[in-house]
Amino acid sequence: MTQTLTARLNRPLSIGGKPVANRLWLAPMAGLGHIAYREVLDDFGGCGLMFTEMCSARAVPTENRKTSPVFSWRDEELPRLVCQIAGATPEELIPAARRVEDEGFFGLDINMGCSVPGIVKRNAGAALLKEPDAALAAVEAVRNEISIPLFVKFRTGWSPDIAPAVELARQFESAGVDCLVFHPRVAPDKRTRPPVIENITAIKEAVSIPVFGNGDIVTPEDCLNMLESTGCDGVSVGRMAMARPWLFAEWTSDFEPDENIFRDYALRLADALDEHFDPIRALKRFKLFTVYFAANFTFGHSLQSKFLAAKSMDQMREAVHKHLRPGMQLAKRPNMNLYNT
Ligand SMILES: Cc1cc2nc3c(=O)[nH]c(=O)nc-3n(C[C@H](O)[C@H](O)[C@H](O)COP(=O)(O)O)c2cc1C
Repeated sequence: MTQTLTARLNRPLSIGGKPVANRLWLAPMAGLGHIAYREVLDDFGGCGLMFTEMCSARAVPTENRKTSPVFSWRDEELPRLVCQIAGATPEELIPAARRVEDEGFFGLDINMGCSVPGIVKRNAGAALLKEPDAALAAVEAVRNEISIPLFVKFRTGWSPDIAPAVELARQFESAGVDCLVFHPRVAPDKRTRPPVIENITAIKEAVSIPVFGNGDIVTPEDCLNMLESTGCDGVSVGRMAMARPWLFAEWTSDFEPDENIFRDYALRLADALDEHFDPIRALKRFKLFTVYFAANFTFGHSLQSKFLAAKSMDQMREAVHKHLRPGMQLAKRPNMNLYNT
């Protein structure tokens, strides 16, 4: 099975004329997909494209990459890093898109999936799916401004009917979008119900640009099933990438984790967070990560409570050494629903 998956994920693919290493990508995740996590992920390797956490389009033009908690990167990751921005209007999006291109990112992704109130109130994220004309105007304006690959990450919309998303996908393609990443859930659904994966097929069949599927990928079987049953061109993985970042290397090549991998990963991430963030931010981000990390284990809840009790990164390291031992019982299927945020 894994060989079939590996072969499929390594089929050559170009986005907007630029080759990408493979078809297994890191999904954008606020608070999780930061510079420190990406550095650790890069050490494992195997991820075809990484997406930044969402950056406010209003903030991007004036952000200082040395001090911004979100709009920051290592130069060496730029060739496989896509910057995601959230904004509502061409006026907000254009200057941000221009900066992203000027900085040398692989591509730009417009967020049309986020439905948290702070974003939706500003007519950004999934709010754009309520106003297809505004969504299209935003995409057209950005496309006219930049020549790097343009991505849109979107969802089914605000009702289960897939027809409006299909129509929008066609319009995005006509407007010059290079790749769609589709998460088949309605916007108010906070990942509590399973994604409707047949809806990925509907989007895929409507356009000829690459379509990546996303949502609830935990095992290699899930990944192969999404590819085979929907015909999508590749898969974008979110929460499971936090739980086991080596899955990219495992599924796209022959990486085999050793018995200390969970402990070593946690310690490596702690170091990278300390390197890139001030102590308070570093600890906050580590605690957010433990939500997904602890989901690996049968006794995840009790492990997580130990991590949450740490008051400094050194205490966190002590907790990691004390509580993460080789051979700990892994949950058969990490219960991602338990950790919905
Ligand atoms: C903590 C968290 C933050 C997220 N932030 C973003 C974001 O900034 N932009 C975005 O497009 N999607 C965001 N998402 C959605 C993910 O990209 C993805 O669509 C979702 O988690 C389903 O994929 P998964 O089941 O592989 O995690 C976020 C998800 C989580 C759990």
